[in-house]
Amino acid sequence: PSAVRVALLGCGTVGTQVARVLVEHGEEIGARVGAPVELVGVGVRDAAADRDPAVPRDLLTGDADALVARADVVVELIGGTTRARELVHAAIRNGASVVTANKALLAAHGPELYEAADAAGVDILYEAAVAGAVPVVRGVRESLAGDRVQRVLGIVNGTTNYILDQMTTGGLDFADALARAQELGYAEADPTADVEGYDAAAKAAILASLAFHTRVSMDDVAREGITSITARDIDTARRMGGVIKLLAIVERVATADGEAVALRVHPAVLPAAHPLAGVGGAFNAVVVEAEAAGRLMFYGAGAGGRPTASAVLGDVVAAARHRVQGGRAPAESAYAELPLASPDHV
Ligand code: HSE
Repeated sequence: PSAVRVALLGCGTVGTQVARVLVEHGEEIGARVGAPVELVGVGVRDAAADRDPAVPRDLLTGDADALVARADVVVELIGGTTRARELVHAAIRNGASVVTANKALLAAHGPELYEAADAAGVDILYEAAVAGAVPVVRGVRESLAGDRVQRVLGIVNGTTNYILDQMTTGGLDFADALARAQELGYAEADPTADVEGYDAAAKAAILASLAFHTRVSMDDVAREGITSITARDIDTARRMGGVIKLLAIVERVATADGEAVALRVHPAVLPAAHPLAGVGGAFNAVVVEAEAAGRLMFYGAGAGGRPTASAVLGDVVAAARHRVQGGRAPAESAYAELPLASPDHV
């Protein structure tokens, strides 16, 4: 079979690792796909900037549109919602499948992109958009497709978990802990998205869409971040035998006329014995409660270049296999409309 051409858009912490693996282990990945997988270009803003030597310089290009036009699979890692949205639409129009880690894009424009992908018969895969390396998207989207999810409760932002953990166990203050999270490559380009809970709200919206097959956007998520948490709050929680965690909670609730979804992100005190209480560092953990499966827990590295690249590459393999062998990821545009719960449920 002919080679599957992969275009990478963006070459930051995650993109660099994706490029490195495709170049160094391309053959192994090709064997898993059943056809050669070729990285045909890396779209960047500044092709002359200094970069990790793992990214071949001759693949760098400033012309993302031309790159998208000659790819079978487009990996969008530029972030933001304007240019990323244009390029994802261009890829779908050209008949390419899309892999993205861009939770803000999906949480704001997901339904429109899923519909376009369904109409074009291509995949849009986004395992890396929620909880980094942890395969919770595929778990909910595919493994639980025959079940009925009631509730998803999780720690889905590594930066804030790292900050709260460092404040709890290391005695660091908020600013120092944030600076370390940035150095370690966990934080978003603008860490406001992390500490104010926007990143977790975007992930909550994605999880709710998958779990309840309904359209929700991040604006539907009641949100509170961690910027007002003080050393004293942490100490008070400790004296009560608990720890403070930033939680994303999405659940199906009964209403007078049927069912609704309640969506929220906020700091909460968890008793030390709770399964999420021991999740330290930049790790993420998501508890999914489904009618037949009962309670499942997904746990692992939620941020950082290599773990996130692992999730991206898993999607690249899946999209490439579909192109070689046929088939598609489950369709996204068939939705049940579930209303949002009124604020007193939240
Ligand atoms: N800034 C995000 C986090 C990166 O800290 O979890 C992964 O989405």
